[in-house]
Amino acid sequence: MKNKKIIIGILLSISIICFPLLSISKNNTSYPLNDEEYKISMDDFSKICLTPGENETMLNFCWYDTNPDGNSQIKIWEKYGDIMFYKGLKNELKDGFVSNKVTVKNLKENTTYYYSYSNDGIWTKPVKFKTKSFKDFNFAFMGDPQIGASSKKMNSHKDGIEKDSFNWNKVIKKSLENNDDISFLVCGGDETNTIEEKNNIEKAKISNIEYAGFLNPNYLRFIPVANTIGNHDKDNENFCNHFNMPNTSHLGETKAGGDYYFTYSNTLFLFLNTNNLNINEHKEFIENAMKKNTYMKWKIAVFHHDIYGGGIHNNDKDVKELRHKLPYILEKNNIDLVLCGHDHIYSRTYPLKNNKKNSKGIVYITGSSSTGSKFYKHIDKTKNYIKSKYDKEEPTYTIIKVSENNIIITTNKVNDDKSIDNKIIIEK
Ligand SMILES: [Fe+2]
Repeated sequence: MKNKKIIIGILLSISIICFPLLSISKNNTSYPLNDEEYKISMDDFSKICLTPGENETMLNFCWYDTNPDGNSQIKIWEKYGDIMFYKGLKNELKDGFVSNKVTVKNLKENTTYYYSYSNDGIWTKPVKFKTKSFKDFNFAFMGDPQIGASSKKMNSHKDGIEKDSFNWNKVIKKSLENNDDISFLVCGGDETNTIEEKNNIEKAKISNIEYAGFLNPNYLRFIPVANTIGNHDKDNENFCNHFNMPNTSHLGETKAGGDYYFTYSNTLFLFLNTNNLNINEHKEFIENAMKKNTYMKWKIAVFHHDIYGGGIHNNDKDVKELRHKLPYILEKNNIDLVLCGHDHIYSRTYPLKNNKKNSKGIVYITGSSSTGSKFYKHIDKTKNYIKSKYDKEEPTYTIIKVSENNIIITTNKVNDDKSIDNKIIIEK
């Protein structure tokens, strides 16, 4: 943490003025579908999902089919290159589906690839994707898409899921169109809404449809997403069956999975399942990952429960317990930045150490709802550790640019691209 400086206050107005200029330079990747054409197939929860691999040269794939025999296979190639085959693992599920997980290795930076996967024994139509820089890189952070949370306000689950899936597609589209070089997405938990219960077939059915909604955006066929386990996900096996997380552990485990990590360029990403309140397990996980990655310059922790958030969850028993025990471990391990969700309200703290403002401390950022599927009543009183808060009922997303000497963070509204906070620069 030596010499770390957090520079805040590049004027909000500058980014608002600049944004129209940025939005002219559209990404040249052929993105799918106009808004009007966006359709979700409610019973197709088999779509392939990409996840960052153990490091930037690897990529994880996961998809459902119905074939328990044979190999889970991906083939991948450059335009004029040899075809490489990668085999993985099948997991037969109770409902007749099979979850396939494959890891692809030896990827090069800034390179166009094509991949195809074996779906019920048939090779799918090739999908084109491009790796980004393996040095300086950008990623987009989205809070609580919570596909299906709109259903309460709509006529049916179907209507709610369609609406949330549409808006999930929209926030991904905005973040990619306005920022050419996004390497991957980070999602802060509550990917879907329905909390699965044992032997509750109706809930299992709705959860499957919500996963169809989450997986529907075509962007997810070529942009990896690293998901966090939220309180709505913690007991849902759909989470670990649909997403192929790298470096998984049994520490911090619930039914959905445990803590996991990956590295990309000079950064270690630590994903904690804070639904599990066994702090010693999270401590062990963090220390193990740190030991294996001593040369990483930046360390970013991602977990769902916003221990220094600006919303109603602040006084929840679990959040209080985490706030009491977790920061010390994060500080001891020199974490530079923490990303959370849970409150569906954007907030950013002062740099904090020992529960106090400290220029060498950790900045905690909580994402708002990235889809607008659910907002809580906001609370007027703002805690003294909050430097900036945005509690309007507007979906937002955050872009984080990582380079050798700094991390630059901007957060914008999805609907009009306006910034909701100053640009944050963390220097080290
Ligand atoms: Fe949530």
